[in-house]
Amino acid sequence: MFKEQLLRGPAEARPHGGEYTSRFERWDALASVRRRPRREFEVEGPGFFFPPELYPVVLHPIVAARGEAVVAGLLLQRLYDYLDFTTELENLAVIPVATKISRGRSGLVLPERMRADAHKIVTDEAWHAQFSDDFARQVATTTGCPRLGVDLPAGPAFVTRLDELRQRLPHGLRGVESLLFGIVSETLISGILSDIPRDDRLPSAVRELVRDHAEDEGRHHVYFRSVLKNLWPALTPSERRDVGPLVPAAIHAFLEPDYNRASYHLGGIGLSRDEIDQVISESWPAREVRQNISEAASQLTRYFSEVGALDDARTLSSFEEAGLVRIAHESEKTSHAPREVPA
Ligand SMILES: [Fe+2]
Ligand SMILES: [Fe+2]
Repeated sequence: MFKEQLLRGPAEARPHGGEYTSRFERWDALASVRRRPRREFEVEGPGFFFPPELYPVVLHPIVAARGEAVVAGLLLQRLYDYLDFTTELENLAVIPVATKISRGRSGLVLPERMRADAHKIVTDEAWHAQFSDDFARQVATTTGCPRLGVDLPAGPAFVTRLDELRQRLPHGLRGVESLLFGIVSETLISGILSDIPRDDRLPSAVRELVRDHAEDEGRHHVYFRSVLKNLWPALTPSERRDVGPLVPAAIHAFLEPDYNRASYHLGGIGLSRDEIDQVISESWPAREVRQNISEAASQLTRYFSEVGALDDARTLSSFEEAGLVRIAHESEKTSHAPREVPA
């Protein structure tokens, strides 16, 4: 069991020989685990713990009417949730797949250099998980505000969403979803990683912590794009038809707001069930959520298009239904013009 491959069957029998250019040559000089100090949280003047625009429930009139202290408390909980999400993501989704790659158990024949670099990703991610957990503990101790909801049995929403997605794969392909989740989560550019380091309303330690993480993730992004370039040609046409249509659900699993966690916190400030539903639906209108996800995933959608994933009709319609690509008109479908333009 422990030695099982992510993608089953003899790896040598699958097409391989993809190119790889390492971005980890100067890892010792660049990795945050080597170069950055432990970030220490200190109470600073007025400001936010998390950008309100990235947690729009706090801008809703029903919530704003509860006063500034309530809003500040919710933003602190959102920071805790982000840190908890990070620790879970690294431990459940990224470290296991990077470990399998490093030990030659991905089911793909990958360049030796790529396997060696996977060890560095494992180390980076273990550090990210550790510093996120450590930082949440520091903030809770310093502010005296406990972390609420992090011990709920379901955990962050992406965990349940990924479990559901795994169930949709044929038994013989279970395991390959780990590679898919790794590719998706590591190549998405989240608003959090890009916006928080530049947001001077936030405590400086929060910005530095997220900046440390974002810099490492730049290297991981390039790496997992290479994983995709090696994975897709190695899948049989039938495997591609099974995996491809699930990619949009994997993207949504990572980028869609965690409605349950938000509901929990809104309940915590005394909102009724009806008020919670109203705040959630009006703060995250479905159309807007789809549009934001489509924009955040546009580069990743292009990567899937480049490896030919969207050549399969069911995969293409799954991307179209999720709003990740424009729905092609019938006339375009019969032409040879490239149509997989991210919406
Ligand atoms: Fe990370
Ligand atoms: Fe990463």
